[in-house]
Formats: sequence, C-alpha cells, structure tokens
Amino acid sequence: MTMQSDLAAALNAQINHEFSGAYVYLGISAYFESLDLNGFASWMRAQSDEERAHGMRIFDHLSERDVPITLGNLQKVQTEYDSVNAAVAAGLALEQETTQKLNALWAQAVEFGDYQAKALLDWFVNEQTEEEDLLRTLLSHVKIAGNEGAALLILNRELAER
Ligand SMILES: [Fe+2]
Ligand SMILES: [Fe+2]
Repeated sequence: MTMQSDLAAALNAQINHEFSGAYVYLGISAYFESLDLNGFASWMRAQSDEERAHGMRIFDHLSERDVPITLGNLQKVQTEYDSVNAAVAAGLALEQETTQKLNALWAQAVEFGDYQAKALLDWFVNEQTEEEDLLRTLLSHVKIAGNEGAALLILNRELAER
C-alpha cells in the first residue's frame, strides 16, 4: 500500500527525532566522561546507540515501502550539565517527549488506515514503556544516592555492566 504523504513526512521527521535523541544521549555521555563516571558514560552511550537503531528501523520501513527518505539537520546538543541528577533527568525528559511523538504517529497511522506503519509503531510504543521505566528508575537511584560519593560509585560500577 502506498503511504499517505503526511504520514511519510511524519515518519521522516521521526527518523530525525531518533537521531537527535542519539545525539542528546551522546552529549549526556560526554558529560559523564568529563566526571570520570565511566559506567554512567557507557550506559548513556548504549542509549545513544539504541536511538540510532530506532531511527534505522523507520529508515528501513520507508525504504522497503519505496517512500523517499529525507534526513534533516541535527542541532548542537549540550555536553555539560549542572549535576548527575540533571543529566539523567534530561534523558527522562527526552523519553517522555519521544513517547508523545510516537503516540501521535501511531494515531496518525491508524487514521490513515496504514496498518503496516501501525505494526511498526506498535513496537515503538511498547519500547517507550521500557525506556521511560529505565530512565525513571535510574533517576530514582541517583536521587537516593544524593551527594554520597560511595553510593554514586557503586551505581557507576553497576551501570558499567550493561
Ligand atoms: Fe527511540
Ligand atoms: Fe529511547
């Protein structure tokens, strides 16, 4: 089935959002590298890689359906944050924003009767539940650790194991 052009544009925009997300996580990772919190840094780098893979999932779907692909600009992202807490909170905020975008895309796919796109987006919507939970849990742990260096270093070691 030929994809409706508004939906094609929205999915192309989502490729950009996923790659932008990869970039945001890379900026967060750079911040943790600057603190020598290597476990946090590698965890955030893995998140970055996942966002890139998400972008590629949509890329492949469009390509398989012969929809022209557009690749927009990436904005400069911050690589400095005020605190560990603020950096992790930025990851959670990104995921919440992403969930909203994917929910809207899902509704658009259904509205246009594009069940192939809907099936693709079912995966994404499910993934967001896990992604938000991961970030929310990490933020809770960071808050519990607070300014206790020892607790933060234990968390850092745990995160290195991902
Ligand atoms: Fe994503
Ligand atoms: Fe994500």
